[in-house]
Amino acid sequence: MSVSAGPEGAAPYVEVSSVVGRRERRRRPLLDSVSVRFEDARPVRPFRWPPGGRYFPGWYWAATTRQHAQRFGTDNRWWARGMAVRARCYDREVRAFLARHPRGAVVCLGEGLETQFWRVDNGTVQWLGVELADSAALRRRLLPDTDRRRTLTGSLLDERWMREVDASDGVLVLAQGVLMYVAWDRVRALVEACTARFPGAGLVFDTPPAWFAAGTVRGRFRYPAGYRPPPMPWGMTPARLRELRACPGVATA
Ligand SMILES: C[S@@+](CC[C@H](N)C(=O)[O-])C[C@H]1O[C@@H](n2cnc3c(N)ncnc32)[C@H](O)[C@@H]1O
Repeated sequence: MSVSAGPEGAAPYVEVSSVVGRRERRRRPLLDSVSVRFEDARPVRPFRWPPGGRYFPGWYWAATTRQHAQRFGTDNRWWARGMAVRARCYDREVRAFLARHPRGAVVCLGEGLETQFWRVDNGTVQWLGVELADSAALRRRLLPDTDRRRTLTGSLLDERWMREVDASDGVLVLAQGVLMYVAWDRVRALVEACTARFPGAGLVFDTPPAWFAAGTVRGRFRYPAGYRPPPMPWGMTPARLRELRACPGVATA
């Protein structure tokens, strides 16, 4: 998949390329592709765990620049595999929540262009994405809001999004791939605000280990295609886990 801002004034355009059936390769706009579940796409090669293997080989195609932007699988095999596994973990949490709260509210902080809604939708969930202005505008253009799924413009650090959540049928807050970019004291404040506002709600987030986060701050990582992960000011440690467990209203962490 690829997004490109393109030449100034041009509308951004996102296409997803997938292999369907035995050989048929399809490339379609993002909104037409969201119903294709990752598990249903035929892998080009087997999904293996050992290092040195190739995972989800293929290319990001930048439709705006009409170039293959990056090879997904060879250069970034660990990264690619991690993203896919992470998405599956989040899906599992959402499905478990919806089994208990079919009409519950799912809030995706920093949703980006994630298309999880289409993978887990049960027909009754209320879905709210929270994104910064530029990304929210792009998302709404590519994945327009509906009555049960909308994107709110704002920062996850600004508690205003909480007012938009109907908590009457249970709340699950997801922060996939985003809290590591926020200062630790703001993360703790967010956890405290969520527990105060939505007692009994779930919060799912992921973090890198502390050594990896420290490496990003020092600019130590660079992928062969040139991508550098942005600085991640913190990573999980036993001490931080203890801090979270001590937050008022946190039941388990
Ligand atoms: C690494 S992307 C993850 C996107 C998506 N959650 C996923 O897993 O595919 C991080 C996203 O968080 C958003 N983001 C960063 N800081 C944010 C903030 N303070 N409030 C809301 N969104 C934020 C970015 O715009 C970006 O879309």
